[in-house]
Amino acid sequence: MTRTLGTSPADIAAAAAVLQAGGLVALPTETVYGLGADATNDRAVAGIFAAKGRPQFNPLIVHVPDLDTAARYAEVTEIARVLAAAFWPGPLTLVVPVRDGTLSPLVTAGLPTVAIRVPAGTAAQELLGAFDGPIAAPSANPSGRVSATTAAHVLDGLSGKIDAVIDAGPCPVGVESTIIGCWDVARMLRPGGVPAEAIEDVLGVSLAPAPDADAPTAPGQLKSHYAPGLPVRLNVDAPDAGELFLGFGPGPNAAFNLSPASDLTEAAANLFHALRLLDGMEGTAIAVAPIPEVGLGRAINDRLLRAAAPRE
Ligand code: TXA
Ligand code: MG
Repeated sequence: MTRTLGTSPADIAAAAAVLQAGGLVALPTETVYGLGADATNDRAVAGIFAAKGRPQFNPLIVHVPDLDTAARYAEVTEIARVLAAAFWPGPLTLVVPVRDGTLSPLVTAGLPTVAIRVPAGTAAQELLGAFDGPIAAPSANPSGRVSATTAAHVLDGLSGKIDAVIDAGPCPVGVESTIIGCWDVARMLRPGGVPAEAIEDVLGVSLAPAPDADAPTAPGQLKSHYAPGLPVRLNVDAPDAGELFLGFGPGPNAAFNLSPASDLTEAAANLFHALRLLDGMEGTAIAVAPIPEVGLGRAINDRLLRAAAPRE
């Protein structure tokens, strides 16, 4: 049985007690709902992988209330300090060296680094305060499927597999955090809720690409992720008969328009809800209008490319 909790102090305390007992709680953050567990408890973290059906080699993001707490688990490099000062709390995850022995090794999948962030959502911050420990939380969806931006989305995929979900309404940002590797140089590991341009402004230099030389860059090579049941076709100006059109800005009649006013912030907030909505309709495919590759558009296009990638 999965309990749905609200955001009253009693409900937040109940959620913290579930985490303390090694259970799983889906929590709202400003980006998407996360599937949370005590990041120091091996059994609890293993439960996240089991509930999501997630490959064990894919490491998790650790959520902490502030930079000082982050420094207990991670070595805050110079680049990380600058970015944390500018963007925490907020939709930015920093990959930095982990302090050995402070977290479950399942969280980092055996890597010498940890992905860590300070979420901005009120409910997430209240839960971190009540639990008083680091919370490991990937997005609260079955592995490879569309992320959850409401408690109903969480229950769609994980009902019965987790102990509780805290319902705090829709997530305002709507796409996951930007992930930056903070080594000798700052590297873009995943576009997300903080635009690359804003990060480059703060650093005064361009972001380097991900270190993995054979990381997929062409859409065809991208690993399938964020996948609805229906096929997805991108950069469509005029949908074919039978296709469900996901619009952006002015254009042909759409089954759903991410933002009639061409506002990328609004489009990001609507993205996962829209994919789920259209996936529940009668159609041959989801056809998506072109989205400009600037600001939050980069995060939206990253998610759409993976949603359209060939399925395993
Ligand atoms: O907004 C978000 O980031 C949401 C909310 C819940 O915080 N979380 C999220 O987690 O998107 P998840 O598990 O869906 O994505 C985490 C990503 C994965 O692609 C993982 O490979 C990467 O972070 N990651 C985690 N630890 C890493 C590390 N040490 N080095 C490089 N990448 C890492
Ligand atoms: Mg995810």
